[in-house]
Amino acid sequence: MWFQTATFYEISIHAFYDSTGDGIGDIPGVTAKLDYLEWLGVDCLWLLPFYPSPMVDGGYDVSDLTGVREEFGTLDDVKELLTEIHARGMRAIADVIVNHTSDQHPWFQAARRPGSATRDWYVWSDASDRYADSRVIFIDTQDSNWEWDETAGAYYWHRFYAEQPDLNFDNPDVREAVKDVVRFWLDIGFDGLRLDAIPYLYEREGTISENLPETHAFIKELRAMVDAEYRDRIMLAEANQPPPDVVAYFGDGDECHMAYHFPVMPTLYMALKREDASDIVKALEATPAIPPNCQWGVFLRNHDELTLEMVTDEDRAYMYQEYAPDPAMKKNVGIRRRLMPLLGNDRSWFELLHGVLLSLPGSPFLYYGDEIGMGDNYLLNDRDGVRTPMQWSGNPGAGFSTADPSRFSVPLIADPAYEPGKVNVADQQASRSSLLNWVRSLLAVRRSLPVFGTGSFELVDLGDPAVLGYRRFDRQTDTLVVANFSSSPRSVELEHPMVDLWSGRLWNDAVELPGCEFAWLGMVP
Ligand code: NOJ
Repeated sequence: MWFQTATFYEISIHAFYDSTGDGIGDIPGVTAKLDYLEWLGVDCLWLLPFYPSPMVDGGYDVSDLTGVREEFGTLDDVKELLTEIHARGMRAIADVIVNHTSDQHPWFQAARRPGSATRDWYVWSDASDRYADSRVIFIDTQDSNWEWDETAGAYYWHRFYAEQPDLNFDNPDVREAVKDVVRFWLDIGFDGLRLDAIPYLYEREGTISENLPETHAFIKELRAMVDAEYRDRIMLAEANQPPPDVVAYFGDGDECHMAYHFPVMPTLYMALKREDASDIVKALEATPAIPPNCQWGVFLRNHDELTLEMVTDEDRAYMYQEYAPDPAMKKNVGIRRRLMPLLGNDRSWFELLHGVLLSLPGSPFLYYGDEIGMGDNYLLNDRDGVRTPMQWSGNPGAGFSTADPSRFSVPLIADPAYEPGKVNVADQQASRSSLLNWVRSLLAVRRSLPVFGTGSFELVDLGDPAVLGYRRFDRQTDTLVVANFSSSPRSVELEHPMVDLWSGRLWNDAVELPGCEFAWLGMVP
């Protein structure tokens, strides 16, 4: 059950650290930075796709599902990285991307050949009007989920870029091949796998082809295999769906161990600007209970756009208005910005959101660079603007690489408010009051409070919509979290004296919260 109390940290390998001086981050580069990650206090690394890929979709277009991208290193480098991670008592998960492959994958190349015996590994049609009720996800670039293939003389189905044909899960050979991919990475030593785009495995006429019963049946099959053949490994669902549909990915505790809590994420941002926590409360109330052997993954940002696919039209319009004033900030149905720029570089907002994120039911997922408040560049292609090189120092190349920065695959941030000279790990490690050291302290306090991972959750109505309140408790520990989303101070009455679990300050009848502040409170011993 390690995943129930772990803090996860998401790494874009190409952007983390370049150990060879070619301008591209690599796997030995991650190994070289493990001391930093251990120091920061994260428990489990999530490595973004490191497989061979034409890089149409940031590596989510895979041309060899059991290979390693040459620029990133070798399979031995991956094994070495895992050995070093495990030696530090940390863990790592990897992406398994099996809804689709790259069109360059040998499976697709074989399938499209006229008379191919494996044609059926992908989803083909003579007409482009099948499954017409299925939405297009990448609306900025795709106008259909069908693409004509001249060689095959047929249309093929794709939920993402046209260069990412969907595998046909109705074919038992595909299902077996996918299980072998899962086995391959678990055999190498990964502690778990993030199942990318898992709602879209099957297509059925007259449905939206998402969350189909066949998909859940396959996940159960996969889970049974993982449980039978491995110990202590996890499956994490990437299912951007409304609450009841996300919860379905836990099954009866016999599907995924974890799923991202997509529904609550945008409400955290709405609450800040509205100075009103009601949307968070609503999202949490709408979240069904999950099986005891499962856990949510909660997050503020990741390598994608801040998705607004599942919010109401009204909330989406509000989010765009508040957080995407420049239309170039929009991407598909979402906003391609990093955390700190979204928050207008406001540290109190950053702290407030982390105080909530780290105490909500779930295990927090941090995105590399957010711990130092890195900036973004929404003018870059696709989502590259939130995938820029990690800023290790103010040196040329940001301490990321010794190569000429003009050779970097994604350029450094140049915005004067966020450029490497202004925002970097080295300076912040040296300053006690830095954002980085603040995040590190918060993670340390959280680690001492396993109740935030495994305890019960109960909303507490404090009679003020600006103040979010909830209890996290188990048999040993009782805590109260209060978060003031108003910019002005609030006083929250207490039923009994409580102690601030971070500062040790004692509050007798009430806790005084300045604007945009939170407190983690515990019983007085
Ligand atoms: C979700 C991934 O996070 C995203 O980056 C990718 O584009 C899609 N799945 C398709 O694989």
